[in-house]
Amino acid sequence: MSTKIRVAIAGIGSCASALVQGVEFYLRNPDNTIGLMYPEIGGYKTADIEFVLGFDIDERKVDTFLQEALYAQPNCNMQVIDPASKFQCIETNARTFRGPTLDGIAPHMRNYHPSITFQEDQKAHEISAAEYKDLLKKYQVDILLNYMPVGAEEASKWYITNAIEAGVHVINCMPTFISTDDARTLELLAIQHKVTIVGSDMRSSYGASRLSEVLQGSMMDAGLVVTQHIQMNMAAGTTQGQEHIINGRSANTDFLNMAEKARLYNKHVSKENVLSGQSIVRGKGLEGMTMFAGPSLTVVQRPGGAYMGTDNKVCNIDLVAYGFAGARYELTARLSVQDSPNSGGIVVDAIRFCRVAREMDIVGYLRGPSAWSQKTPPVQMTTADAKFECDAMARRVYTPITEQQKISHLYNGDILLKEKVKGLTFTFQKGKTEYE
Ligand SMILES: NC(=O)c1ccc[n+]([C@@H]2O[C@H](COP(=O)([O-])OP(=O)(O)OC[C@H]3O[C@@H](n4cnc5c(N)ncnc54)[C@H](O)[C@@H]3O)[C@@H](O)[C@H]2O)c1
Repeated sequence: MSTKIRVAIAGIGSCASALVQGVEFYLRNPDNTIGLMYPEIGGYKTADIEFVLGFDIDERKVDTFLQEALYAQPNCNMQVIDPASKFQCIETNARTFRGPTLDGIAPHMRNYHPSITFQEDQKAHEISAAEYKDLLKKYQVDILLNYMPVGAEEASKWYITNAIEAGVHVINCMPTFISTDDARTLELLAIQHKVTIVGSDMRSSYGASRLSEVLQGSMMDAGLVVTQHIQMNMAAGTTQGQEHIINGRSANTDFLNMAEKARLYNKHVSKENVLSGQSIVRGKGLEGMTMFAGPSLTVVQRPGGAYMGTDNKVCNIDLVAYGFAGARYELTARLSVQDSPNSGGIVVDAIRFCRVAREMDIVGYLRGPSAWSQKTPPVQMTTADAKFECDAMARRVYTPITEQQKISHLYNGDILLKEKVKGLTFTFQKGKTEYE
């Protein structure tokens, strides 16, 4: 395939930086497939992804070339590409425009040292919704990645709904539109504009969510009853490539942002959806279960030294289960990862699934790729079922799920068949109140 997949990014933070550097890495090393779950999806390689546009609100990133913004503070992900070398996966002159701040910066984020937090731009022209849509069209953007900080509900809505209205596919990497009501409304908009969505709240290729899902799922498939599943996360340790710098480390901006409880509500719900999803897809209840998953600990350096962020994340998982004749099982796991590159591995798949699905005339939420790559997909699946759906789409093969999402099924000529849209499956997440 020669057609490039043209991508715009809202929020040029550590995840965006790790993703773009990763795509460039595989482009420069075409024989290396380590870290790629799908070297090809429907004929597309990671080298077919091109970044053409960025949006941010930080004065160190706004009105710069996209390549420059990737390396600006407070981003703290590992560097795999020399910042001075020319990126082939970024379109020449791709720039970062000043988006509206809305609720992008939580009040408490303004209290940290500038090296580790956002610095709101006060000078550049803030684009309007009409200008945003025009830019997406002018740059022929296929897919928008929403990388807003957790809790930026208004900002996410702005980037996502305006992109869909401009005919652009969306990958929603953060926890918004997570209740079924919100997700259904968004899906209707996407189907009306004949675009696809992967969402919401991305997982990592091999992170806490995948590990929790596999451990709990395998216990349940062995006939055990899981009575406790606690997943605790913290930013701790050192970003790869900076091990030689003898200095304390603060949590990255993602964790700092979630230090405020009000900010992380949806993230908390979304992380627990992974755990509850494994019970629900197996027809088991959650009554009486001890369950917790969340960004549990955010640590900031003490005043006096240099401030540095860390992109290393540690997850501790604790499971209790009962099995044959009441025998008790206890399982403890610890996973330490480079957080942002770990998510890049999944986003390079989501981007290509959006393109291939559209070429297969599939619209709306991609249920298989969303279950595989997101914490709160419209339909939770077992690991095996999600992989089956992704494998089928990677080979351009329809399944009973994707058959329901073909334009020819949802439309009669130009007329949208709303009852067919209403019939599209959602597993759970009926509304926020269910969790309160
Ligand atoms: N492995 C992972 O790191 C991982 C996994 C799952 C989900 N996520 C989610 O992905 C999102 C991005 O993560 P990150 O680590 O890159 O965060 P980050 O804090 O490094 O980056 C956020 C970026 O958004 C910008 N921003 C804030 N408000 C904005 C606005 N209104 N318009 C445009 N830009 C704005 C900030 O300046 C910053 O550049 C977060 O919601 C995070 O929870 C990350």
